[in-house]
Amino acid sequence: MSDEVLVTGATGTIGSHVVDALADSAIPFRAGVRDPTEGEWPENCEPIAFDFERPETWGFAFEDVETLFLLRPPSVGRDRIVEAVDAAVRTGVGHVVYLSVLGAERNPLLPHRRIEKHLEASDASHTFLRASYFMQNLSEIHAPEIRERDELFVPAGDGALSFVDARDVGAVAAVTMTEPGHENRAYDLTGPESLDFESVAERFSDVLGRRVAYARPSSFEFVRRTSARGVPLRFAVLMVGIYAPARLGLAGRVTDDVERLLGRPPTSLATFVDDYRDVW
Ligand SMILES: NC(=O)c1ccc[n+]([C@@H]2O[C@H](COP(=O)([O-])OP(=O)(O)OC[C@H]3O[C@@H](n4cnc5c(N)ncnc54)[C@H](OP(=O)(O)O)[C@@H]3O)[C@@H](O)[C@H]2O)c1
Repeated sequence: MSDEVLVTGATGTIGSHVVDALADSAIPFRAGVRDPTEGEWPENCEPIAFDFERPETWGFAFEDVETLFLLRPPSVGRDRIVEAVDAAVRTGVGHVVYLSVLGAERNPLLPHRRIEKHLEASDASHTFLRASYFMQNLSEIHAPEIRERDELFVPAGDGALSFVDARDVGAVAAVTMTEPGHENRAYDLTGPESLDFESVAERFSDVLGRRVAYARPSSFEFVRRTSARGVPLRFAVLMVGIYAPARLGLAGRVTDDVERLLGRPPTSLATFVDDYRDVW
């Protein structure tokens, strides 16, 4: 009988927390990773070779899988994901939990929305996790500028964001993969508050006990200074695009989906900063 659970992106920001949440559930599952010889995995997890760019890995990884946690790694094109979805459904995957982006339903050109549409038309059921900006962007991409210059250097203008903790997204994913009733639903995953970067800087200052400031660069200034620091131009421009919804005032919506699914409020930014304080 096919009842396996397979997690893609299992070493990444969200996938690693999906793995943690499933480890707590004690349900056996597979982590699909490019190098299964690397890393440490929970007792109930079997690492298995899986690469979106190597279709020869797909058949074995999807065999006997009922539920798939799917994400699109930033480096992988939409067509590859769509091909993998088709292969998964052909092999017998019955339910796909897909990590999408808050507001995807309003943007038909977004690769995430195109993947959602492909899943909606497939024979498998789906759950869309439309996540807001991850708090972990602050402990990963933006960590050096906070640590070294006490500065948040982000092209977000005065826009507010409803940051969500990746740990909460991982926990929600585990719930939707292991409990019934989430088929063909979309959840909007946000944190508990909508914060502009002045307020984010205040939270950092309060919790860390030193002043962290928001530099509020224009998009042009962001690209200029980021490139001057040796960051590839393509990446700097990508960051401007990523923060465009915030600049336009489209990224601040707060929902209660995390609380309804987890039975507790989502993690606040202050708690996140406290939990990760060693990073900064
Ligand atoms: N950042 C945000 O605020 C935000 C908010 C909402 C949604 N999202 C969406 O979240 C998704 C990214 O999730 P994430 O941040 O958890 O990812 P991530 O931290 O960038 O990790 C990517 C994962 O994908 C794996 N991977 C890379 N290339 C692969 C390939 N060819 N085949 C199989 N696995 C591969 C990586 O494994 P290796 O260890 O092998 O490299 C890693 O586990 C994106 O679709 C993004 O749009 C992001």
